[in-house]
Amino acid sequence: MAEALLHCLLNGAIVATSDARISPLDRGFLFGDGVYEVVPAYNGKPFRLEAHFERLLFGLDALEIVNPYPRARWAALVHELIAANGGGDMGIYLQVARGAGKGRDFLPEPHIKPTVFGFCWRLATPKPELLRRGISAAMLEDIRWQRCDIKTVALVGPVMLKIEAKRRGADEAILVRGDRLAEGSSSAVFVVKEGRIATPPASHERLPSITRLVVGDVLDALGLLLDVREVRRDELFAADEIWIASSTREALAVALLDGKAVGRGKPGPVWRRVFDEFQKLKQREAS
Ligand code: PDD
Repeated sequence: MAEALLHCLLNGAIVATSDARISPLDRGFLFGDGVYEVVPAYNGKPFRLEAHFERLLFGLDALEIVNPYPRARWAALVHELIAANGGGDMGIYLQVARGAGKGRDFLPEPHIKPTVFGFCWRLATPKPELLRRGISAAMLEDIRWQRCDIKTVALVGPVMLKIEAKRRGADEAILVRGDRLAEGSSSAVFVVKEGRIATPPASHERLPSITRLVVGDVLDALGLLLDVREVRRDELFAADEIWIASSTREALAVALLDGKAVGRGKPGPVWRRVFDEFQKLKQREAS
């Protein structure tokens, strides 16, 4: 549970989270009209912040919302938020909604002032038990929209998918569109077969994951190749290993898919190497 820490960011100021207020006419609330980012921070230092800003700006541009701050101001606010909450390892949420209009109109009124909200929570390292056993996933048809490359706050699709995955006893939903792998409900997905690692390419069907780039760097450091190509649904059931990756979970091994063992039914050797190298890379960048 990502319990919010005491201080948050609202429209350029650090305020007590319990005192933060926005208008119920905010279009983020009424329409899910906004974008967000989740940035991990290690040792008080945001990890791959530039890449997260790039994606935030891409999303703002796609929704035609004016970026409220220059890059340096954004970075300063993120650092203020981290400092106000005592640093350490944390997840940082940043949201830019289009803002509040005079009422409810699908078409945005011109010159609305965006609402900027940020908060953070303590990021726990994955429990040894989870690393030893791996996670479980359910394969579900992707019910989301056609622009999953935009990190919009309209997340009711993934919420429904997470509820369904939980009902099936799984920790994550792995989404397919017909015969093809899309992504996880909140993660990028990798498959390994006979030592070859694959992940699907960037498209409107999936979020350009920052952790996927980090895993790419990790694989480079290990001298392992990554095939970027479409992955078929049956490849998931035949895989030796499946991993999911996200900013808050790093890279985790999937041991069970729809209740069936993935490979030997426990985290595999390629994942282990990736996980260990990931930790080293994190420590290097955070020091
Ligand atoms: N979600 N795909 C989807 C649909 C996601 O929601 C996420 C992350 C990812 C992984 O992206 P990244 O590596 O940049 O975190 C892929 C975040 C963590 C969230 O919404 O909480």
